Amino acid sequence: MKGIILAGGLATRLRPLTWVTNKHLLPIYNKPMIYYPILSMKKAGITEVLISTSPDHAGDFAELLKDGSEFGMKFYYSIQSNPKGGIANAIGLAENYAKGEKILVILGDNIFGYDLKNDVEEFSKIKKGALVYGVKMNTQTKQYGVIEIDKNNNVISIEEKPENPKSNIAQIGVYMYDERVFDFIKKLKPSLRGELEVTDLNNIYLKEKTLYCKIIDWWIDAGTSHDELLKANNLVFEKIKNKKI
Ligand code: DAU
Repeated sequence: MKGIILAGGLATRLRPLTWVTNKHLLPIYNKPMIYYPILSMKKAGITEVLISTSPDHAGDFAELLKDGSEFGMKFYYSIQSNPKGGIANAIGLAENYAKGEKILVILGDNIFGYDLKNDVEEFSKIKKGALVYGVKMNTQTKQYGVIEIDKNNNVISIEEKPENPKSNIAQIGVYMYDERVFDFIKKLKPSLRGELEVTDLNNIYLKEKTLYCKIIDWWIDAGTSHDELLKANNLVFEKIKNKKI
């Protein structure tokens, strides 16, 4: 399986911090934000990773991360010219890089401690399908994709930022897809906000009854607001001190 980390977008919600830099380069405790998904990939045993970013700060990523050898990995870079093309648009740009292979996608602002290694091994053996992850939230899930599951963890529905969430389970930014993902992305139409949505992509698998879901214990999307960015710093500090990450 090949890895893809998405680090594009405009990060308007984090301005003025993101006027002159990319949000994934902002500090989270003792590392730039993008180090966390990179280290999650490495822990999962995936060492070839494509980093997708926007043209304006691509040079900064190359300067920071280079060819990946300092991480014991191999990095490739991809430029998403339309920073609001959407998550599925950015994944689609990886077609030549990952053609004919399964992929693990991690959003560059997502931080979690869960070890994906066993899931990667299991997923690489399945014939077809996609795997998504959820986290049970105490507060509102409105600002995320929301996953509704039955008691056996079968997915009933996934909705992107719904007005009336059907559950308290947030869809996190970690996805595994089979080799057909690039063909499915070509069928997507932009949403009302003009993006190719990852949730629409996942719904193609759901319709086919090949969408699987796992619930993990903790996760934070550091990119949603200044408050979440601050929370991510404090949480990571605490997790590192307790050796949970
Ligand atoms: O973090 C989990 C959430 O991520 C999910 O619950 C949602 O279903 C999913 O749509 C996404 O929602 P966000 O509103 O948080 O997405 P955001 O625009 O912040 O982008 C997420 C990451 O993907 C971020 O690291 C930047 C990158 N990205 C985003 C877009 C729209 C790109 O690389 N290219 C893009 O075009």
